[in-house]
Amino acid sequence: MFHTAISRRMVLATAALALSACLPVWAQAPILIQFSHVVTSDTAKGKAAQRFKELAESRTGGRVRVEIYPNSQLYKDREELDALRLGAVQMLAPSLSKLAGVGGGDFEVFDLPFLFKDHAAFRRVVDGPMGTELLRKLEASGIKGLAYWDNGFKVFTGDRPLQAIRDFKGLRIRIQASRVLVAQMKTMGAEGSIGPLASVHEALRSGRLNGQENVPVNIQSQRLDDLQSHLTVSNHGYLAYAVIVNKTFWDKLPADIRTILEVALRDATLYENSLAEAENSKALDRLTSSGKLAVYTPTAQELQEWRQALEPVYQEAKDWISPQTLSAIKQIAGAPPSLLRP
Ligand code: LMR
Repeated sequence: MFHTAISRRMVLATAALALSACLPVWAQAPILIQFSHVVTSDTAKGKAAQRFKELAESRTGGRVRVEIYPNSQLYKDREELDALRLGAVQMLAPSLSKLAGVGGGDFEVFDLPFLFKDHAAFRRVVDGPMGTELLRKLEASGIKGLAYWDNGFKVFTGDRPLQAIRDFKGLRIRIQASRVLVAQMKTMGAEGSIGPLASVHEALRSGRLNGQENVPVNIQSQRLDDLQSHLTVSNHGYLAYAVIVNKTFWDKLPADIRTILEVALRDATLYENSLAEAENSKALDRLTSSGKLAVYTPTAQELQEWRQALEPVYQEAKDWISPQTLSAIKQIAGAPPSLLRP
């Protein structure tokens, strides 16, 4: 009896094995895409990653499975890029500021202060030839760039009022890993302290940092407003993302799957870009009405003074951003005349 049961099981197992050998690879196990990012699921990036997952899984009829790891659960800023290159994850959406290490200094052009007048100016740059060319530069690092996702304009928060540039003197301000941002803080008389987003809360709590710059959505979703007393609506820089994949993984996908994923990503991108601006303006309203921080909006005249004070950053950035990229982006973005000087 025992013997008969074993034999039947063996026959079934052998038959299953034989059958699976005849099936195409995708029928045996779904292709897994691990998508890691460093912000919460309720941000525009988090929601668009979820939308991509739903579209990718349903449109491939389950041949692809997407696992999302939000809020630095798996990897922090720098680590996630290493993980992508090693193939430990397949997809990321890091900020453009973090891509200079894998795509070259030109990526830091997006960090230049007061470069973009509005979201449309940013989209003009990334949806044109410069956007395509920049993504192509990632390929030498084994990365393929697929899309640009918006976020919005950064504001400063601090443990004291930060209404004018002189208020920053001697302070430690968290920035992302970008030489342009280091130069920006130096020009303001402050020290730019580079660290991963996941560590900002603790660094502010312990007093190792006096302040930081980010978009309202990140400030609120990382609960940085619990630790800061002041916020200045400086809108001095733009934060945006590139959706990137491990190039070898992407190139080896069956062509029909790759096409479905490209279209799914295009739809998720439209969704992301439709959310970003409104989400930041809602977050700023909530930060203002919460009463936790004193929110200061500089006057047009004060912002003009900020702009002038930060112009030397453009000169400094010439050391690592190519003159062609610098001059092209200023034209396309519609930078103010004072910045258009070569
Ligand atoms: C940051 O590090 O502050 C941002 O890049 C986080 C993000 O992905 O929005």
